Amino acid sequence: MVLPKHIAIIMDGNGRWATRQGLSRSEGHLAGAKTVETVIKECLRHKIPHLSLYAFSTENWNRPQGEVNYLFELFCQFVKSELPLMLEEGIRFSMIGDTKRLPETAQKALAHAIEETKSGKNLELTLAINYSGTQEILHAIRQSAAEILLQNKQKIQTVINENNKSEDIVQYLTSLFDDTHYTEQNLRNHLYLPDLPDPDLIIRTSGELRLSNFYLLQAAYAEFYFTDTLWPDFSAEDFEKALTAYQNRKRRFGKIDEQE
Ligand code: FPP
Repeated sequence: MVLPKHIAIIMDGNGRWATRQGLSRSEGHLAGAKTVETVIKECLRHKIPHLSLYAFSTENWNRPQGEVNYLFELFCQFVKSELPLMLEEGIRFSMIGDTKRLPETAQKALAHAIEETKSGKNLELTLAINYSGTQEILHAIRQSAAEILLQNKQKIQTVINENNKSEDIVQYLTSLFDDTHYTEQNLRNHLYLPDLPDPDLIIRTSGELRLSNFYLLQAAYAEFYFTDTLWPDFSAEDFEKALTAYQNRKRRFGKIDEQE
């Protein structure tokens, strides 16, 4: 049976789990970190090569300052305490999102884990922190447009020198972005991790049926699996159920079945 090569998870429900247990929201996040360990082990066991976890969205800054600080501390602790396991198991740690706004200590801890694990071959573990799919697409548009202009700067200069009509110059510049010169690949080359394959399976816990700005472009043909289970309760058995559901889906990528 075909397994997904890339699983992306929207880990939701830590707060509700904590409230139900009479615990603080931070304790809910701490319990959520244990589930992260479980899914990493399951991916290694099944030899799934890519796992992405949505840990902090650009909208999460609107949470109470204490909770935001706690989450960053937790991410730092996580990458430090998991480093021996990552090295032992051949896990390559990576990150997507706008890291510049993160506390400096967090930036350093995450960068250290990326550097130390860069030769890991068995599982690429990507944390989405201060991530927004809309911002990622905007970033890719800006970078790819700048690249095209830079690649053509001499020709642009010639066109400017030869033409005094602004319409001609605009027409030439526009032609650089027509569908023969500017393709989906130009855009994709500037996603945060251009070599990461699109997710095959996106899991969201806690009963919410939304993508919440996660992997907007990359989710084009992903299969979705939603479960009411809250993230801290998500177990190896729940992970297995998601894999079974995926294996029962027919992925046609816009085509029709051969026998139809
Ligand atoms: C959503 O639950 C969860 C988050 C915003 C944070 C995700 C963080 C973790 C799972 C902690 C550990 C992660 C790592 C990588 C060590 P919520 O707080 O929105 O829950 P609620 O909707 O029930 O309030």
